[in-house]
Amino acid sequence: MTEIDFILKSYNTDIKGGSVKWESPSNIALVKYWGKKENQIPENPSISFTLTDCKTITEVTFSKKESNNFSFDIYFEGEKNEAFKPKIQTFFERIEVYMPFLKDYHFKIETSNTFPHSSGIASSASGMSAIALCLLSIEQKLSYTSNRGDLSYFDKKASFLARLGSGSACRSINGELVVWGKNKSTESSDLYGVKFDGKVHENFSNYQDTILLVDKGEKQVSSTIGHKLMYGHPFAKERFSQAHNNLEKLKTILASGDIKAFVKVVESEALTLHAMMMTSMPYFILMKPNTLQIINKIWEYRAENNSNVCFTLDAGANVHMLYPENEKENILEFIKNELVIYCQNGHYICDQIGLGANQIGF
Ligand code: DP6
Repeated sequence: MTEIDFILKSYNTDIKGGSVKWESPSNIALVKYWGKKENQIPENPSISFTLTDCKTITEVTFSKKESNNFSFDIYFEGEKNEAFKPKIQTFFERIEVYMPFLKDYHFKIETSNTFPHSSGIASSASGMSAIALCLLSIEQKLSYTSNRGDLSYFDKKASFLARLGSGSACRSINGELVVWGKNKSTESSDLYGVKFDGKVHENFSNYQDTILLVDKGEKQVSSTIGHKLMYGHPFAKERFSQAHNNLEKLKTILASGDIKAFVKVVESEALTLHAMMMTSMPYFILMKPNTLQIINKIWEYRAENNSNVCFTLDAGANVHMLYPENEKENILEFIKNELVIYCQNGHYICDQIGLGANQIGF
């Protein structure tokens, strides 16, 4: 498939309005996307676990209008929000070519997250995928030609649009494991996320992700800037090829159920991501002292208890603890007894691998 296949060619201009509603989850990358080309094309492939409970719920109400510009309002948790507008404006500009009806309607976008606002959890994946899904459901209402009912087309276009909002958002449409970015080990595309097509051993069923909220503040450097710093980065070429290798390794590991090997790849990816930040010019550090305290505690705990718990990080200070379901009780005890002191206001969020987005309003 190419970009051209995602252009809506004709649509019914008689429809006056309506509303649609979706909930879409966050995801946590095992092999990290860090570095992109023009038009949100990733420099390297990534693979993520889709989450279940950390999600964004978005309702879009659309009503016919006359003027030839984008018109929308955003309400975040019930309150009108101006701060989100520029990002949505850019998103509309990027996707208009694929959705030519965008200037025909006024959109009221009402959105909320299940996780606390400013928890430091990236909401761009769940947020942008939820909006993309709503707009695509509106497109279906207006469309004569039907790709309607073609789930594979719907999911691909939803992911394609979400990617243009935020790269990692393209991995939130489906679950439980999603690959984005061309590579030789799995079925994949640079344009949208694809469900991981390999075998997944039962050791990874219901895998748990407990997110320790170390720092809820605004990040000093956004992901978008961080990606740009991979241009001309001294280690970029090696890093991109390492990501390809790690994805290939992970494919074998997921099939065999070798959790010890899984831990090595996942933790190495997290630390490499942050190493890229520290070796950018300008350099920056998003981990906090408590991030390192937690990592060290996890290593100690794993060695002493023959546990399979591991950590990963996204572009921030919070720590995602990944572990098999059969360790849940022990790990939650460990968190309460030893890790909660490193969390801001003692906060952490329990989540697990999930199936992807759901339409909840038609
Ligand atoms: C570290 O998807 O937030 O979480 O495309 O600029 O919106 P933009 O970046 P974003 O980058 C996420 C980077 C990451 C790794 C990952 O999720 O793969």
